[in-house]
Amino acid sequence: MADPLYVLLGATGHVGGGIAARLLDQKRRVRVVGRSAERLASLAARGAEVATGSLEDPAFAARALAGAGAAFLLIPPQVTAPSFRAYQAGVVDALARAVEAARPGHVVTLSSIGAQLAAGNGPIAALHEMEQRLAAVKGVSVLHLRPGFFMENHLGSVGMVKQMGILGSAIRADLPMQTIATRDIAEVGARRLAALDFQGQGALELMGPRDVTMAEVARALGRAIGKPDLPYVQFPYDQARQGMIGAGLRPDMADLYVEMSRGFNEGIVRPTQPRSPATTTPTTIERFAEEVFAPAFRAA
Ligand SMILES: NC(=O)c1ccc[n+]([C@@H]2O[C@H](COP(=O)([O-])OP(=O)(O)OC[C@H]3O[C@@H](n4cnc5c(N)ncnc54)[C@H](OP(=O)(O)O)[C@@H]3O)[C@@H](O)[C@H]2O)c1
Repeated sequence: MADPLYVLLGATGHVGGGIAARLLDQKRRVRVVGRSAERLASLAARGAEVATGSLEDPAFAARALAGAGAAFLLIPPQVTAPSFRAYQAGVVDALARAVEAARPGHVVTLSSIGAQLAAGNGPIAALHEMEQRLAAVKGVSVLHLRPGFFMENHLGSVGMVKQMGILGSAIRADLPMQTIATRDIAEVGARRLAALDFQGQGALELMGPRDVTMAEVARALGRAIGKPDLPYVQFPYDQARQGMIGAGLRPDMADLYVEMSRGFNEGIVRPTQPRSPATTTPTTIERFAEEVFAPAFRAA
């Protein structure tokens, strides 16, 4: 079989970028997709074809996927959309139509733990919708990667740690959570795309090396930045919402994040697969703290 064309969305981001780098290392045919040619230039210099535009534009999504033998799909985060749900629904529709038209043999998506649920999971509901829409496309094998909470989310707390001397969110301090480094998601995505070893519809939850609580996360991050007593504080939902709005999130998005936090706290958003070699990934929170969080903290 000829080497397929791999179309990779979010190719300047955490997961898509990691997949792009790995497939380019293997000299695969790659088309990278994002909104800025400048941000994609280093991948173009490595031989990738480039498609620039917004996935909010269905015509662009169709052009981006045209000719794909395999594809990596995600719903990019978007903090400025007037309605986050409407933005997500628009991207899901554009992606589903583009996949229907291009019919790549294989698709890997970036979904999430909790995507088995249609509601009560905040922004993850759109990933449920994405999974459902792609299941309706005939003749395309789809593997939904369902990672847990990204360790990189904590990079958004550098300012809080610096200014307030705490790590905090609406999530319970003592809740064991599947917490994963995005490099490990990229590793699995690239491996499965290279092997094209999946058929039909499937989902794979990705959980990090062990479940960790937010209290443990604060200890690991704190140790890496020389503040071993960094406390974790659970904010009441309303206070968390106000804090997010104060940080620039639109109210509807803050509401969705509060709903997701409640979903985690109440055990609604939870894994459906057992821990196994397939669902366990290597990077520990301690390693992430040393290699990613601490340098970002020092640079801020
Ligand atoms: N955070 C979590 O804990 C978590 C857990 C499970 C699943 N997820 C899923 O993971 C996603 C984030 O993945 P990530 O961290 O790899 O993302 P990321 O690092 O924020 O990267 C987003 C990518 O999408 C591109 N992009 C943004 N808006 C776009 C648009 N309108 N049209 C085309 N491309 C666009 C960006 O490139 P340009 O800016 O250059 O266009 C960038 O390459 C979330 O949206 C969620 O669905 C997140």
